[in-house]
Amino acid sequence: MRECGLSLDYGRMMAEAIGAEHGLRPAELRAAAPRARAAVNAVAAASRAGALGFAKLPFARAVADEVRRVADEIASEVEDFVVLGIGGSALGAIALHAALNHPFHNLLPRAKRRNRPRVFVLDNVDPDPQAGALDLLDPARSAVNVVTKSGSTAETMAQCLVFLRAMRRRLGAAAMRRRVVATTDPERGALRALAAREGYRIFSVPPDVGGRFSVLSPVGLLPAAVSGIDIEGLLDGARAAHEACLVPDLSVNPAMALALLQYLSCAGRGKTIAVMMPYVNALAGVADWFRQLWAESLGKRVDRTGAVVHAGQTPVKALGATDQHSQIQLYMEGPPDKVITFIGVREYRRGLRIPASPVDDDALAYLGGKTMEDLIRAEQRATALALARAGRPSMTITLDRLCARTVGMLLYTLQMQTAIAAELFGINAYDQPGVEEGKKLTYAMMGRPGFGALRRDVARAEGRRNSARHTVVLR
Ligand code: PA5
Repeated sequence: MRECGLSLDYGRMMAEAIGAEHGLRPAELRAAAPRARAAVNAVAAASRAGALGFAKLPFARAVADEVRRVADEIASEVEDFVVLGIGGSALGAIALHAALNHPFHNLLPRAKRRNRPRVFVLDNVDPDPQAGALDLLDPARSAVNVVTKSGSTAETMAQCLVFLRAMRRRLGAAAMRRRVVATTDPERGALRALAAREGYRIFSVPPDVGGRFSVLSPVGLLPAAVSGIDIEGLLDGARAAHEACLVPDLSVNPAMALALLQYLSCAGRGKTIAVMMPYVNALAGVADWFRQLWAESLGKRVDRTGAVVHAGQTPVKALGATDQHSQIQLYMEGPPDKVITFIGVREYRRGLRIPASPVDDDALAYLGGKTMEDLIRAEQRATALALARAGRPSMTITLDRLCARTVGMLLYTLQMQTAIAAELFGINAYDQPGVEEGKKLTYAMMGRPGFGALRRDVARAEGRRNSARHTVVLR
């Protein structure tokens, strides 16, 4: 049987389909090809030299085996699995869960969830969902996975302290050892120290893998495996994508094509917004995950030479067909500053026939006997065509079907797209100085030792603001 995969159709990025004002001419692609090949070659060379952390993850078989072993053990012991993390330490787990589990996994009886725990990912410190989760979950029947690469992120560590206390009260320190898993840096950080002292299980995030590139490390794999997702399938898909994504040829490398088309559209046509619009509910989490990947990796003040460039393209998440009734008016007639990437599937997981209408009405009769898949596919094709007729560029990624292999392939291709795009923009995709700045200010405001000078800066800056003068109140 032919292995399932994905394809990319970028015909509607081209001038012949959408006109020369917004579409790319073949000559432009030819002229940019040497640069694109150099970008792919640079990524391939880094990968071969072992300097591209995320590219090693699909080949870390021993890690995957250990993840599966621990996940099976946890799944047999608990009713609920709670992931505490933020940003890259949560979005991968959310994306995999949404993509590959039943849409109402947590509401199904256990037997209908492959006999696996319910999964909750708590990725914010709003006290409402935190306290709500504690209302719902019985700590005695739960396991907690605390995920923070740095081991010190305030949001995650605050959640960790809250959950550990709840578990300690119900279970006691000894029983908790089997119920807490820390996923963190192999050596550094407060979480590592805490987990080692308390005897919790620990998975390491490789030091050269940043949060947003960590979905195929234990960060994403453990929650996926606990919920019963085939992580070997995910890694198999990523390995297949790895081979193709290192070939400097647009006709076989979808990551190269995606990166180059976005780069040319952004740099040469003012398309500063990249919309990702799956027509598959299960892939809405992938669009959310990609939003972080594209934003944090490419949004940089300086390029690799230190010149100020303020690079980046703003990623936007949309969902078809729902957002046709919310966003498409803007995409069709608003500023021509967007590239839309549709994601579809050839085969939906379920089929659903629309019954004939009980009343004789032409406005309903045409639906009877069709399927929901016919309808959502028609909506996707109609939207892409309408955009093309309005001269708006789009491309379409199509998965043969939604399975672990194609999802692994998609996530890995999008990571490679980001790595190649960073070469084209000439920036470092793997740091996030803008995020670090906010983290340090939070530490200062919350009184963390070592941040005293910054705390005084904050106080001075807040003191200078005359907020009363610029505040409007409505009661
Ligand atoms: O991609 C990244 O590096 C960030 O989004 C981090 O994942 C996020 O800031 C959380 O950091 P940490 O995993 O150290 O808690």
